Amino acid sequence: TAAECCDLILFGSLGDLARRKLLPALYQLEKAELLHAESRIIGVARDAMSAEDFRERVQQSLKEFVTKEQIDNEVWQRFAKKLHYCGLDLADLEAYDDLAQLVTPNQRAPICYFATPPSLFPVICDGLASIKLNQAPTRVVLEKPLGHDLASCCKINQHVARYFDESQVYRIDHYLGKETVLNLLALRFANSIFSDQWNHNTIDHIQITAAEQVGVEGRWGYYDDAGQLRDMVQNHLLQVLSLIAMEPPTRLDAESIREEKLKVLKSLRPITQANVNEDTVRGQYAAGFVGENRVPGYMEEEGAVGKSSTETFVGLKVHIDNWRWSGVPFYLRTGKRMPQKRTEVVITFKPQPHNIFHETLNQLPPNRLIIRLQPDEGVEIQMMNKVPGLGKRMQLKPTTLDLSFYETFENKRIADAYERLLLEAIEGNQYLFVHREEVEHAWRWIDGIRSAWTQLEKAPKPYAAGTWGPVASVTLMAQDGREWDDES
Ligand code: BG6
Repeated sequence: TAAECCDLILFGSLGDLARRKLLPALYQLEKAELLHAESRIIGVARDAMSAEDFRERVQQSLKEFVTKEQIDNEVWQRFAKKLHYCGLDLADLEAYDDLAQLVTPNQRAPICYFATPPSLFPVICDGLASIKLNQAPTRVVLEKPLGHDLASCCKINQHVARYFDESQVYRIDHYLGKETVLNLLALRFANSIFSDQWNHNTIDHIQITAAEQVGVEGRWGYYDDAGQLRDMVQNHLLQVLSLIAMEPPTRLDAESIREEKLKVLKSLRPITQANVNEDTVRGQYAAGFVGENRVPGYMEEEGAVGKSSTETFVGLKVHIDNWRWSGVPFYLRTGKRMPQKRTEVVITFKPQPHNIFHETLNQLPPNRLIIRLQPDEGVEIQMMNKVPGLGKRMQLKPTTLDLSFYETFENKRIADAYERLLLEAIEGNQYLFVHREEVEHAWRWIDGIRSAWTQLEKAPKPYAAGTWGPVASVTLMAQDGREWDDES
């Protein structure tokens, strides 16, 4: 059924995110008939242009970024009717009157999507308040990066909170909209085979990898300011970690889920000067080969200036100081210019207490549950099996139970994260959005790591593009007698 009737006010509607992700996602929602017939999408940007011109620009973007299929003309006609435009200088409070003329809060819930640089969030809030567009049912959707550290994040949150109640604020982490990230909830809480084993009694350690083949993709300036810790760990990896580690929520609703995720973030053991050397790895890619292609190093990328000690790879050993996870390390790694795009969670179970097969096998490899978040979405269990045969000694072999989402759910298209997140924001459901306290706790922990790094004064270790990061990443595991999944 179609969602609630709304005016989706898209600030930054001509920007990269809107063009690449948001407008294609809205088109897909229209195609699936999930948008209310009377809903509207009001593009807002600085340029003066007619609604007709805006529609043309949107059509261009769709042609460019809806890549796997042709634009369906009938759907486009329906979609185009929903598109409106308001050109305004976001910093000019008086200009917001034009927007006030367009919106219809009594008929349609105003959903204000801030797809602009965060430096503009405060002024947009002031502008919306000036036309009294800050009362429920108005919602605001905030894109990342939400700050650069705890102080700047709090500043944005405080400003937003001057006008909007937390129940009106939707902070995006697009990983929470990914089909497979959501499946973590189903896997954990709909299957007793996993839920009963999910703790320090049976689990040896957990690995979370988010590897990308791409480099900085032409945004060196932004990236150099951020680095991989802020760009990927503070948000996406900590969200995945929270979903993996949290206690069962009482209900499948925003309050219960976010409360449990927050408890995980509060239980993260701080990384300080005392353990930063042992428990963290920073890397920066040098020139190398990704597949057959020779690619430049980080400092040879377009836009690179001066010297930089920004990390493009992070490896971390993380402890969650609570009852469930006592003594179970979580190893996290994420990097640019890795051999392949791969996001996955690997749960390694404890070994059997006694090996009755020792005559053929010295050591039984542990069972592993691999949750492939992207690409090639699926779930895999590595287990031992007997090799069929009449030989005197029983031969064993590691085998895999492999559930590929594509094969199992053949005709199901896997929706882009933004389709789901837009839909949930339109429905007024906050369970896939990040609470203020979560984002602030995540920053507090990240700031601790950054400050320990600063005191350490060590440059990131180089690694060749197309490899799994610096050698120190292997050592991070090896010092505990373990190895990353791709090494075993
Ligand atoms: C973004 C980061 O949040 O996530 C990018 O800013 C990164 O640097 C991207 O490439 C990864 O997202 P995904 O969905 O491709 O895994």
